[in-house]
Amino acid sequence: YSGDEQTEDYLFKIVLIGDSAVGKSNLLSRFARDEFYPNSKSTIGVEFQTQKMDINGKEVKAQIWDTAGQERFRAVTSAYYRGAVGALLVYDISRRQTFDSIGRWLNELHTHSDMNVVTILVGNKSDLKDAREVTTTEGKTLAEAQGLFFIETSALDSSNVVVAFQTVVREIY
Ligand code: GTP
Ligand code: MG
Repeated sequence: YSGDEQTEDYLFKIVLIGDSAVGKSNLLSRFARDEFYPNSKSTIGVEFQTQKMDINGKEVKAQIWDTAGQERFRAVTSAYYRGAVGALLVYDISRRQTFDSIGRWLNELHTHSDMNVVTILVGNKSDLKDAREVTTTEGKTLAEAQGLFFIETSALDSSNVVVAFQTVVREIY
């Protein structure tokens, strides 16, 4: 009997973290609903979406959590990370400052969650080629040094968005 019960076995909590305006909420809306918001507002508190995914022919559900990059709008930190098995650590390739914050986000992640949380470093806004401030090599090098997966994405033109989430879920699974 292969009822729906089976899918309940695979519900993975994944958190989105990174500075304000790097595109966390748009990565999620692009992934979950194939929508992009050119003028989206800062997230306030916490939002999440549950997304069904097909991994090696099995249906798994990813519960993806999104909060604000800015301290004053953020969800309660410990609750946000509790039970997370995956993380997308996002920066904006057109703003170096957001890349410089990665170490701080990693510290927070490791303080509040299991060391084995599967983490991918995501350089978002790859469509902004002329405004690039962080090279692909820099991203890759940091990811290797920290033992993270790495990908560059664009929530605007959709490139690599699905792959980014799938990489995490596949590794957890
Ligand atoms: P906080 O909720 O404040 O932490 O921000 P966030 O990380 O959720 O950023 P959000 O998704 O709200 O996006 C911030 C701005 O960047 C918005 O104007 C988006 O339209 C824009 N944006 C997001 N992703 C991309 C992208 O891939 N390319 C471009 N060009 N703009 C993007
Ligand atoms: Mg947001």
